[in-house]
Formats: sequence, C-alpha cells, structure tokens
Amino acid sequence: VESQLKADSVDKGKYRHYMLKEIYEQAWAVSETLEGRFIDNRLQDNAFGHNAAEVFDQIKSVQILACGTSYHSGLVARYWFEKLARVPCAIEVASEFRYRNPVISPDTLVVTISQSGETADTLAALLEAKRLGVKHSLVICNAPESSLVRESDLVMMTRAGPEIGVASTKAFTTQLVALLMLIIAVGRRFALTKETEEQIVSELFGLPGNIEKVLKLDNAIELLSQRFADKHNALFLGRGTHYPIAMEGALKLKEISYIHAEAYPAGELKHGPLALIDAEMPVVTVAPNNNLLEKLKSNIQEVSARGGQLIVFMDEELAESSDENVQIVKMPSVANIISPIVYTVPLQLLSYHVAVLKGTDVDQPRNLAKSVTVE
Ligand code: AGP
Repeated sequence: VESQLKADSVDKGKYRHYMLKEIYEQAWAVSETLEGRFIDNRLQDNAFGHNAAEVFDQIKSVQILACGTSYHSGLVARYWFEKLARVPCAIEVASEFRYRNPVISPDTLVVTISQSGETADTLAALLEAKRLGVKHSLVICNAPESSLVRESDLVMMTRAGPEIGVASTKAFTTQLVALLMLIIAVGRRFALTKETEEQIVSELFGLPGNIEKVLKLDNAIELLSQRFADKHNALFLGRGTHYPIAMEGALKLKEISYIHAEAYPAGELKHGPLALIDAEMPVVTVAPNNNLLEKLKSNIQEVSARGGQLIVFMDEELAESSDENVQIVKMPSVANIISPIVYTVPLQLLSYHVAVLKGTDVDQPRNLAKSVTVE
C-alpha cells in the first residue's frame, strides 16, 4: 500500500525530479500492470475487455499506431508478434498513417498505444482506420477516461500511476508489459506455443526484480554521464528488439538534454553512419546476450578502431573488460524475452543524469508538452 500511495501521489517525495521518481517506480508499476490479469498463471482474455476472446478469434493481423516513445514500444512488439507467434504485424507513426490513405484489411486489429490517450495524431489515425472499414480496435493506455479509451473496443490499461515528467519512462516499460500480454492473448490463436507462453509469463513475473537489480547501476551510470557533458551529438546502436530500445534511448537523451542523438540498427553502420565516428561522438550500444551479440561485437570493433568512444551495456556473464575506447556496463543476465524492457532502464538513467549535468529542465524540457493534443 505504501508504494502504491507513493507512486500515485503527484509529489516528488525524496526525488529531485519527477522523472527520477518515475524511473524508480517501474518495478512497482510493472507489478501493478500484471496484477489481477492471470488466474493460475494463465492470462485471461478478458483482461482486454469482456468480448476480447471473440475479437481475437476473428482477426488476421495487427496494425500498431502510436507516436514518440509509445511508437517505440510498438516497434518492439512487432518483433515479438512475428517472432513469438507468427502474427502478421505492421506499425506506423500515427501522423503518417492518417494522411497516407493506407490500404488496410477490415479484419485487422488496430492497436493504439498512448500514455495520455489524448495524442491528436494517434486518435485521428484510429478514426481514419475506422473510416477505412477496420472493425476492431484496442488501446494500451495509462489514462482511464481518455479519448482513445472511449474510442476503442478493447482496452488494456497500464497501471503506472500519474506520469508527470514529460519524458516518458514508466509508461514505456508498462506498455511493453501490456504488449507482451497482448502477444499471448492474440498469439494463442496463431502459432504461440504453450511452452513459449509459460516462459513469457514466468519472465514477466520476475521482471520487477530484474528492474530493481538494474536500478543499482544508477551511481555507475551517473559517473558515465560525465562523458556527455561537452558533447553535442551521440549515436545509439542496437539490433533486433533492441534497435527500438536504442531509438528510445536516443529520444530520451535528445528530449531532456538537447544533445542531438540518433539511433541506428547496428548493421547499418557501414552504410553511412560510420563516417560520423570520432572521439567527439559517444556511441551507446545495447548488447544483450542473444544471437546477434557476435555481430554487435564486430560493430563495436568497427567503431572503436576509428577512435569512437563507446558505452556498451552487456550481459555481466559475457562482458569483456573495458579499454580506452570501450566502457562496458555489466547488466544482470536476463532472458531474451524481457531484455528489451530491462535494457531500457539504464538508458533512462543515462539521459536523466546527462540532463542534470547540462542543467536543463528535466521534467519540463523546452518546446515540449506532456500530451500533444494538437497536430
Ligand atoms: C516521450 O518521452 C515523449 N514525451 C513523447 O514522445 C510521447 O511519447 C508522445 O508524445 C506520445 O504520447 P502518448 O504516449 O501520450 O500518446
């Protein structure tokens, strides 16, 4: 109850900024978002609405529409939908979808993702999809009485509590939790196996503990943030489900520290970005222990050989030693399925500490609003 009261309250408590408080609330927010949606560890279809099973039985594909950080959680979900359950999944930035006159099949489930539930482009994109004949919609949202909740047939509420900082943190990680639950519910009608479903559920229940472990890296990450104090550009690299996590890390850094940060799929380095690499360009790499790690290691060598200064988040069991160009941050060993969520947290902390160093308004960065209710 105490952590609930703390997280639901809209005062910073012991924290210097709302953003830091909300980063530290994520283990609690994830637990809250999972609460009551399983019976005997089996996800209930009606977690998405009373008629969810009937809708999930009919759909043939998924179209995700969102903006900003919420778009990044959707990008991760696309990998999961296809990789874990062979569900055809498309995703697009809402502000592009709404004007493109897209071709979309009526038996597509349109999934909108929104912390505020009031993002004008996302709401307009949903209405456009309905105009084009789509019959089923579902929103993943953190605001119960919002426009997107009212406009959607099915609803999965994230229970992150009020998110005050403009830079979204706990909403993002709880969106990923909600999306994994959606992949189970829809994936059961496709190729998701009972074994994979049980693995996902088990890792979701262990996620709060893994988030708490990573928060212990805070002081080490604060030290690393000093490398960005005099920098004006940064590159974030990832592969697979961690490419959208690199995108989210870049967005966090740019929106609160005003450093130009860009994310690339690491395999793209040779196709241009490598020309940017020098000692003035910090390169942050998300390198969990998966089938892409060896390829990522060669990308890291490409950057290091050109004098690039790397910060690499790597599984502690595989982590190599740091050297003059490569600073390794040892991450707890976690299962592939939840590593995108776990590897987000150090990137949130990195952007937070850089912004504090730069002296920007961390909770209310210039030019930005918490909810973009206009085009
Ligand atoms: C995230 O840090 C940003 N503040 C912004 O990109 C935000 O995610 C975007 O505006 C979408 O907002 P929503 O989730 O409320 O729809």
